[in-house]
Amino acid sequence: MKSIRVLVVGCGGVGRQLLQHIVNCRHLHAKQNLALRVVGVCDSRSLLLVDNVDEMEFSDEFLLKMCRAKSVGSPLASLSDSGQLLVFENLKVKEKVIDVAGLLGRSTGLVIVDCSASFETVEILLQAIDLSCCIVLANKKPLTSKMDDYEKLISKFRHIRFESTVGAGLPVIASITRVLTSGDPIYRIIGSLSGTLGYVMSELEAGKLFSQVVNAAKGLGYTEPDPRDDLNGMDVARKALIIARLLGLKISLDEIKVESLYPNELGPSSMSTEEFLSRGLQSLDLYIADKVRVASLNGNVLRYVCMIEGSRCHVGLQELPKDSPLGRLRGSDNVIEIYSRCYKNSPLVIQGAGAGNDTTAAGVLADIIDLQDLFV
Ligand SMILES: NC(=O)c1ccc[n+]([C@@H]2O[C@H](COP(=O)([O-])OP(=O)(O)OC[C@H]3O[C@@H](n4cnc5c(N)ncnc54)[C@H](OP(=O)(O)O)[C@@H]3O)[C@@H](O)[C@H]2O)c1
Ligand SMILES: *[C@@H]1O[C@H](CO)[C@@H](O)[C@H](O)[C@H]1NC(C)=O
Repeated sequence: MKSIRVLVVGCGGVGRQLLQHIVNCRHLHAKQNLALRVVGVCDSRSLLLVDNVDEMEFSDEFLLKMCRAKSVGSPLASLSDSGQLLVFENLKVKEKVIDVAGLLGRSTGLVIVDCSASFETVEILLQAIDLSCCIVLANKKPLTSKMDDYEKLISKFRHIRFESTVGAGLPVIASITRVLTSGDPIYRIIGSLSGTLGYVMSELEAGKLFSQVVNAAKGLGYTEPDPRDDLNGMDVARKALIIARLLGLKISLDEIKVESLYPNELGPSSMSTEEFLSRGLQSLDLYIADKVRVASLNGNVLRYVCMIEGSRCHVGLQELPKDSPLGRLRGSDNVIEIYSRCYKNSPLVIQGAGAGNDTTAAGVLADIIDLQDLFV
């Protein structure tokens, strides 16, 4: 039986779903002669670590107990008296994770899984790579900060997986990597990488008002608590940057032209979320309706996409043919079209649910399993 030791950083929607998947897949993994051994879990304040990382792992019972505690809002530290575990707090967390990475990196190996939404984990991840550990990310931030950090993180390409950072569980990164390594040059990628904006843009075609559609999307739970966090395009821009860097562009986030769907005057520093939803949004209805109408007269539809072509990368509204994979998009799916020498007239298209704790965590788990050859 091959053991893959795992330390999970972040125990929110995705981190908890990952722990649950790990428990539920025991039987499946055993059939492949694999055992995932979770030795540590962090939230924003603490690290819970097994007593002896060489020999011990958390029981399934305890993993589920952590999930239950976190899902009712208790910090991990509230489980500190559960026996046979060590608890580290605040500044000690980083230090201890790096200790464990050093110890297991040169013996059994370790996968550090970043399911946080933090900028702060990058230091741990960089050290982990230096210490011969593997890393798996759902968190986009470490890959979308400094170019320097990105290059160090991916310097051992066999040791890092980040499939869930773009399109959640959809095999976007893997597909692009396969096309590139086959020597087939990719010259354009265009994608709708926000479930929220995909839904909003396709609903507009039926003649609905922008304000109605955004409010409906919020009601369906498709948006962030403040929908402006979707409408500003920054999440799409981070995904675009990850793809662009994968294609070899040496650019940073501030070099991507990002079109926000609301002006500064309607931003969080000018009005509350409630004000924005009740009256701010309405002031955009005519402007958006006009764009939708113009697109329609041209036989096109309007989509909010990322476009990477040559050395250019931008994010925003674009008219696209009705009868194209992106033009046919309905609802909250992600769609990505990849154009290369082989996929020139008929692009490689990847489509499906591009968000959700379950699919994202499943993508993370598949990434961990994909590293199995590096373990004994
Ligand atoms: N949900 C999706 O559909 C989806 C899809 C693709 C990618 N992602 C990405 O997956 C990541 C996780 O998403 P989520 O929805 O699970 O987020 P979430 O519910 O906000 O969970 C984030 C977790 O990270 C912890 N955390 C924050 N800062 C930390 C730090 N410095 N060190 C260690 N842990 C820290 C938080 O701790 P506390 O519990 O103490 O606050 C929380 O447990 C995000 O980066 C997100 O962009 C999510
Ligand atoms: C993901 O998990 C979070 C935290 O448990 C929850 O609030 C959210 O509704 C979940 N999202 C989905 C799409 O299930």
